Amino acid sequence: MRVIIVKDYQEMSKRAAKIVANRMKRKPDLVLGLATGSTPLGMYSEFIRMHKEEGLDFSQVRSFNLDEYCGLSSDHPQSYHYFMYDKLFNHINIRPENIYIPRGDVENAHIFCEWYEKKIKKEGGMDLQILGIGRDGHIGFNEPGSSLGSRTRIKTLTKETIEDNARFFKKKEEVPRYAITMGLGTISEAKECLLLASGTNKAEAIQKSIEGPVSAEITASLLQLHPRVMIIADEEAAQNLRQKDYYQYAEKMAEKLEVNQES
Ligand code: GLP
Repeated sequence: MRVIIVKDYQEMSKRAAKIVANRMKRKPDLVLGLATGSTPLGMYSEFIRMHKEEGLDFSQVRSFNLDEYCGLSSDHPQSYHYFMYDKLFNHINIRPENIYIPRGDVENAHIFCEWYEKKIKKEGGMDLQILGIGRDGHIGFNEPGSSLGSRTRIKTLTKETIEDNARFFKKKEEVPRYAITMGLGTISEAKECLLLASGTNKAEAIQKSIEGPVSAEITASLLQLHPRVMIIADEEAAQNLRQKDYYQYAEKMAEKLEVNQES
């Protein structure tokens, strides 16, 4: 696990975008796992800038989003469908047929979840999975208690998550109580994971995820078992890390090595 500590949100976003762009240059038909929430917004803006100013090419990229609220149609302004098109897809040259987002408005969600899993496999699995983190340590919508081997399915959201996400809705009552999310088993099959975290409200979750025991209570802690994980946290999100100094030192030392994993 690489823990990269950066100054602030802007630096986190730029660093993350650069890493993803490098992967895309190496493999133009990269299968990207994408996340929503406010954390990846800066990285998405940077993708758009890189596409417009530097010709970053998404034409062969395939993308799978982590999750979607149940009960919201894809044109609902608070749906993750809407978010992804509004914040990223409408501004880059990704092909619509290469975009996959769980659907929250299907008649039979179970059949849909099975289809989504099969589709991920058919496309070869995620090369790089982008992740944010919830205040309760969740990734995707894998709330505490999620099976570490879980697959795409419906999850009931915790009160904490509903409160956190209420800021995007007019009233808290409007926040859906269920979501479809890739499972922890699904996420761990990605070849590489990149988790982003910014702000003091993520500090506890980040410390527990990186330095606490692997447990279904903090589902991001599962990443400790993954062979290829990068976590980019800003100073605020990293403030509780006990081994902070070591992570910073290790990053400096890694720069000196001939093989820089990032390039
Ligand atoms: C939601 C999403 C997660 C995201 C989390 C944190 O629960 N399902 O994928 O990581 O929110 O959101 P934010 O980045 O806005 O703090």
